[in-house]
Amino acid sequence: METPIYNFVTHYKSSGISRFHMPGHKGQNFLGCEERDITEIDGADVLSMADGIIAESQLNASRLFCTGRTLYSTEGSSLCIKAMLMAVLLDARKQGRFKREYILAARNIHRSMVDACALLGIEIQFITSHRTCNICQCTATPHDIEVFLENSQKEGSSLPIAVYITSPGYLGGISDIEGISAICEKYLLPLAVDNAHGAYLAFLNENRHPIKLGAAICCDSAHKTLPVLTGGAYLHISENYKERYKETSRRALALFGSTSPSYLILQSLDLCNKYLAEGYKKKLAGCISIINETKDFLKNSGICVIETEPLKIVINTACSGYTGTNISSEMRKYGIECEYADIEYIVLMVTPENTQEDFQKIKKWASCTSLVYNKKEKLALPDICLKNPQQKMLIRDAVFAPSEVIDAKDSLGRICAAETVSCPPAVPIAICGEIINQDMVRLFEIYNIKKVCVISE
Ligand SMILES: Cc1ncc(COP(=O)(O)O)c(C=O)c1O
Repeated sequence: METPIYNFVTHYKSSGISRFHMPGHKGQNFLGCEERDITEIDGADVLSMADGIIAESQLNASRLFCTGRTLYSTEGSSLCIKAMLMAVLLDARKQGRFKREYILAARNIHRSMVDACALLGIEIQFITSHRTCNICQCTATPHDIEVFLENSQKEGSSLPIAVYITSPGYLGGISDIEGISAICEKYLLPLAVDNAHGAYLAFLNENRHPIKLGAAICCDSAHKTLPVLTGGAYLHISENYKERYKETSRRALALFGSTSPSYLILQSLDLCNKYLAEGYKKKLAGCISIINETKDFLKNSGICVIETEPLKIVINTACSGYTGTNISSEMRKYGIECEYADIEYIVLMVTPENTQEDFQKIKKWASCTSLVYNKKEKLALPDICLKNPQQKMLIRDAVFAPSEVIDAKDSLGRICAAETVSCPPAVPIAICGEIINQDMVRLFEIYNIKKVCVISE
C-alpha cells in the first residue's frame, strides 16, 4: 500500500529546500523528529479541504476499515466526537422531524461528548440499565433503547436526533452494537459510536468494527490501539450515511480543529495504513492468543480476570480485597505501568507491539502477588446509582453561566457548571446543568476529586 504523505515528506526533507515557512525549528533537530515536521506547504495538501496526498491516504484508510468515508484527525477522538455530533445535528435539522435536539446515550461517555453538546446546544438523555458505583460501567442494551424509543413514540414526545454509545468502554466492556443499530434502523435514527478504544476491531478474524455492525458514524483513536503517534484518530462514516454526513463532518472538523495539523501525526496515520495492509490481521490474531494465554495463567494463579474486549486485560482487584490503585503500585515494582486503576479494577492495554518480555513481567508479578481470590475478604463497595440525576439547566447554559470553584465535599445540591472528571477515564460524574446529589459527592471522594465547578449563587 502506498504512503503518499510519508513519501512526500521523505522527498521534501532530502530536497535541500530552504524552509522559509513554519514551523520555527526549520527542520533542525531539537527533539529529533523536526526534519519530518512540516506544515501545509505546496504539494502537502490541506487537511480541512483535502484533495491531494491527504485525500489519497484517507481513501486508503477508508478501504482498509471498509467505510463509506474516513477523515483524519490530528487532535484525537476528542475532535472527532465534536465533528460527529455536529454532522448528526445538521442532518437532523435538515430532516425537520425532531421537536427537541437531544441525544440518547449511555452514561459512560467521555467528557468530549459533553463538551460537544455544550458547544452545539444539544441535550443528552441518559439511559442506563443497572446500578453500579463504577462510572465506566454505565452502559445500555438494545432492550433499554427500544423501550425508551417505544415510550417516546407512544407519548408523542420527540425522538432523539441520534443514539450514542461508547464501546469499548475503559474497562473493556463491549456493547451490543449490532442489536442497537437494528433498533436505530427501525426508528430511522443514526447510531453514533465512540469507538476510541476499538480501531483494531476491524481487523479481527471477523470484522467487529462499529461501522460493519451498523453504526452510521464513529470515531477511533488510532493512537490508543494502533502504532500511531498520540493524537492520531479517524472519523468514519458508513456507506449509507456518506452523502448525508461527509460535507458537514469535514466542515465540523475544520470548525473545531486547529488550522495547523501535525504532519508528524498525519505521516504516522499514513504509515499505519501500510502496517494494517501488510500482515496486521495475522499479528493481531497472534497477539490475542498470547493475551488469552496470559489471562489463563492469571486465572490459574487465582487472579480475577474479567471478560473484556480482546486487547485489554482487566483484573477485578476488589473481589480479592485490594483496590486497583494498590495493585498498580505493586505492579510498578515489577516494571509494569498500567493504563488505568481505580478502587475496583486495574486495566492493562496490550497491542502486538508489546514484547515477550512484557508478558513475562506480568507472569512474574502474578507468581508473587498477594492478589488471590478468596484469600482476603472482598472490598465493600458503596451502593451508588447515577441513574436519574436531576437536570436543572441546559448543558450549554450551565457551561457558559457565571460559576465558581468549591470544595467537592461542599457541593451537595449545587448545579454542576463544568464536567467533573478524573482522567483517565475522563467519564464525567456530574454533567453540566445537573444538581449534584449525594451519590455524586461520594463518587467525587472515590475518584479523588477535590474541587468542583458549580453555578454561582
Ligand atoms: C472512551 C473515550 N472516548 C474518547 C476519548 C478521547 O480520545 P482522544 O484521546 O483520542 O482524544 C477517550 C480518551 O481516553 C476515551 O477513553
